[in-house]
Amino acid sequence: MLYKSLAAGVIAFGLPTMASAALIITGSMGKADGQPGSLNTIKYADGKLEIINTQVGVCGKISSWMEFIGNHIYCLDEVWTGGNGALYNLQVTKDGSNLTQVGNKLEMLPGPVNTARYGQNHRGLAVAAYGGGGLQTLDISNPAAPKTLQSTNFTMTPKPKAGDQQKSSHPHQVILDPTGDFIAVPDLGADLIRIFKVDKNTLEYKESSTVVTPDYSGPRHGAFVKLNSGTYFYVVTELSNEIIGWKVNYTDNNLELGEKQFLVPTHGPGTSAPNNVTAAAEIVISPDNKFLLISSRNEKSIEIPDPENNAAGQIPSDPIITYAIQADGTLRLQQIFPAGGVHPRHISLSKDGSLVVTALQNDNRIALIKRDVQTGNLTEFVGTVKVEGPPMFAKLKE
Ligand SMILES: *[C@@H]1O[C@H](CO)[C@@H](O)[C@H](O)[C@H]1NC(C)=O
Ligand SMILES: *[C@@H]1O[C@H](CO)[C@@H](O)[C@H](O)[C@H]1NC(C)=O
Ligand SMILES: *[C@@H]1O[C@H](CO)[C@@H](O)[C@H](O)[C@H]1NC(C)=O
Ligand SMILES: *[C@@H]1O[C@H](CO)[C@@H](O)[C@H](O)[C@H]1NC(C)=O
Ligand SMILES: *[C@@H]1O[C@H](CO)[C@@H](O)[C@H](O)[C@H]1NC(C)=O
Repeated sequence: MLYKSLAAGVIAFGLPTMASAALIITGSMGKADGQPGSLNTIKYADGKLEIINTQVGVCGKISSWMEFIGNHIYCLDEVWTGGNGALYNLQVTKDGSNLTQVGNKLEMLPGPVNTARYGQNHRGLAVAAYGGGGLQTLDISNPAAPKTLQSTNFTMTPKPKAGDQQKSSHPHQVILDPTGDFIAVPDLGADLIRIFKVDKNTLEYKESSTVVTPDYSGPRHGAFVKLNSGTYFYVVTELSNEIIGWKVNYTDNNLELGEKQFLVPTHGPGTSAPNNVTAAAEIVISPDNKFLLISSRNEKSIEIPDPENNAAGQIPSDPIITYAIQADGTLRLQQIFPAGGVHPRHISLSKDGSLVVTALQNDNRIALIKRDVQTGNLTEFVGTVKVEGPPMFAKLKE
């Protein structure tokens, strides 16, 4: 009820409010199992969203993640149906209207889902392989010819009541710390944060420390935040739907996550997930380090006007939940705002923090939402578009 009135009160679709132009690049999985996925370029100008390019199969079947480097896009194919994953190297025209593959695709460990750049001149690329349970690194000194460096398969013993996602290791993200010396890898299958030390020159990594999260929590994505009081690390857990935060302790040679700072359910202290299929997904930090945003999937806890056809009535939406980061690293619940549909697997912010892009996997929809950078609140929908196949990734190319 509360959400219904909130949504009705604040949402006004298609307002021609922002004059600036921008491109959003998205990746989708195929329309049906085994079919090729699509990449879309969406132009945002004069307050409107318009698809200006759709290319099918340029990033395999399950286009799970992208890294933008100048006019190169590295795109991961998660594949899903067994076998190795792949990294596609694409060149994109300035206007976003054409993506062209460069060289051959690179075979990767199965199920790659996320990348992070590291090392001197950001010439290393770390990749988390969810399906294969591994970590991989590439040398991208020459963006046109990435070379595989190191590869590790993680082993673990499943816990007695392990569900399907915890029968083996499932690293879901690679996150570079603010010093650039460490990479944190949340392992959803093992209830661990695996931390690696990297050599910025040779790009080699080695194990630094391992931090345990609560049993069956399923840590998925994380983020570092550097405040005056120290550096903090936050992780969102997919299975227990919580945010866990630690103060980072830099010792002589390692990054350690100190005593647990706090653990808060995604909807705030004293709440529980709205239903038994709720699965928290993304975590992002605002550019000013003052706010933490998470997305939660499958809740359908909010109703909003159908964004493509206001006259058609209401549709269900999942939330984006904003927390204000306090001076001591603790979190204060600030706002619950509709994501624009169901299953926001990926959300991302514009560089200035004034726009939020959401990839709504179950609605084949991309939504663009305005955000007040002073207050940290999401304020209104700029617009939405439907794309071909369930979107897994959407980000402004700035
Ligand atoms: C895209 O660019 C490639 C390489 O320059 C070119 O061969 C192809 O014709 C272009 N496609 C379109 C639709 O413009
Ligand atoms: C790691 O796993 C992949 C498949 O998941 C396999 O092809 C590769 O041989 C494994 N590497 C090692 C060192 O076991
Ligand atoms: C930081 O790590 C060192 C070495 O493990 C330990 O002695 C120290 O107590 C830790 N400090 C905090 C605040 O956790
Ligand atoms: C989840 O909830 C639904 C209905 O609320 C119920 O039918 C189903 O058995 C529950 N599933 C589990 C795994 O608890
Ligand atoms: C931000 O949103 C919250 C939740 O709706 C609201 O209580 C608060 O007043 C808003 N802040 C501002 C400055 O609008």
